[in-house]
Amino acid sequence: MASKISSTTLFTFLIFLTCLLLYLYSTILPFFTSQTQSTPPFSNFNKNPPPCNYFKGEWKSDPNRKPLYDSTCPFHRNSWNCLKNGRENMEKINSWKWVPENCGDSFDRINPLKFLEFMRDKSIGFIGDSLNENYITSFLCILREGDDGAMKWKGKKGVWRGGYFPKFNVTVAYHRAVLLANYEFQPIPQLEQSKYPGLKGVYRVDVDVPSDKWVDVTKFYDVLVFNTGHWWGYDKFPKETPLVFYRDGKPIVPPLGIQSGLKVVLESIVSYIQREVPLTTLKFWRLQSPRHFYGGDWNQNGSCLFDNPFEESQLDIWFSPSNNGVNKEVRQVNSLIEDALQGTDIQLLPLTHLSEFRADAHPAIWLGKKDAVAVWGQDCMHWCLPGLPDTWVDILSALIHYNLGSG
Ligand SMILES: *[C@@H]1O[C@H](CO)[C@@H](O)[C@H](O)[C@H]1NC(C)=O
Ligand SMILES: *[C@@H]1O[C@H](CO)[C@@H](O)[C@H](O)[C@H]1NC(C)=O
Repeated sequence: MASKISSTTLFTFLIFLTCLLLYLYSTILPFFTSQTQSTPPFSNFNKNPPPCNYFKGEWKSDPNRKPLYDSTCPFHRNSWNCLKNGRENMEKINSWKWVPENCGDSFDRINPLKFLEFMRDKSIGFIGDSLNENYITSFLCILREGDDGAMKWKGKKGVWRGGYFPKFNVTVAYHRAVLLANYEFQPIPQLEQSKYPGLKGVYRVDVDVPSDKWVDVTKFYDVLVFNTGHWWGYDKFPKETPLVFYRDGKPIVPPLGIQSGLKVVLESIVSYIQREVPLTTLKFWRLQSPRHFYGGDWNQNGSCLFDNPFEESQLDIWFSPSNNGVNKEVRQVNSLIEDALQGTDIQLLPLTHLSEFRADAHPAIWLGKKDAVAVWGQDCMHWCLPGLPDTWVDILSALIHYNLGSG
């Protein structure tokens, strides 16, 4: 009798225990999984908050400040080598120092030797348009001060270029992919030209196909810096040769305008990066570099012969889309990029604001070639080197150090 009661009790108890365990399991498990999901496994990266915001601050004059390199750096591109091209005011341009708010001593200029030592056996890749090339050129010239054995990397037609720093086994390189997605020109066949008056051909953009200029190289790099934006305009793709967007190999209907096309490409490229580029790769997306054309766009005699950086109060007048100025597009593109990057592990490099001040720092008419201004207009888009991009390098190197360091 006693054994019968105890076996019934035991049976009831076991059922109760099973139910209890199932209940606990079902309530506790989601808690643990959502915990691990909300803390991404970037085991390599610093999880403490950054020391300060490098992107907000002011330019202060420091007459003793000197650039880290000169016109003899072998990585220069001729049209940005403002010292060699005799740009006026270069000492003054390079005497301005970016001072982020509330950073105290925690924001410093890059020390090329220490940075290369820190990056030993690692590599940094830049992917995008000529503004990223402007960036990397500054980076290479600066790093060369830490390893004068630096060797050039150069591909055909400037498709990729970079440098290798043999003392530290560090590579820093650029892959040109101005739209980030694949695109190619398709001329209108002779026989069909009467059907499309005024159309010479179209640039077909496959929104879901990352450019083959970079798609195979991402796993090589420990740090990647993406950008795009300056090519998304009707000056690059006018109505005689417009962009036409494709998905799954078929034209998107109804056809997208340039801004909507950019939005779709950003979403698709960002999702590709999230799927295919390892979590252990430190990823940045740099926001737009502002242009400073005054009195017209580049092809309308726009100029940028300024002696000083702007005052903060001038920035909205020049760049706010509500003023409809020739330089408003940068902030519009930025907001599309910010939307596309939400919830990803790609960190923003919002270099726009600090650069908006620097109307004084473009190559303007000093382009190193006699007819360049007559043919291309002034360059109020790229930057003199040495110059503003050196500050971009200071910030990027600080953030790389911060993310990959153990601090
Ligand atoms: C250089 O660094 C790479 C990793 O980026 C490594 O695979 C390679 O062995 C290193 N080479 C030398 C000579 O240390
Ligand atoms: C630019 O300036 C040149 C020379 O002053 C003039 O001939 C030309 O018409 C101007 N172009 C525009 C678009 O204003």
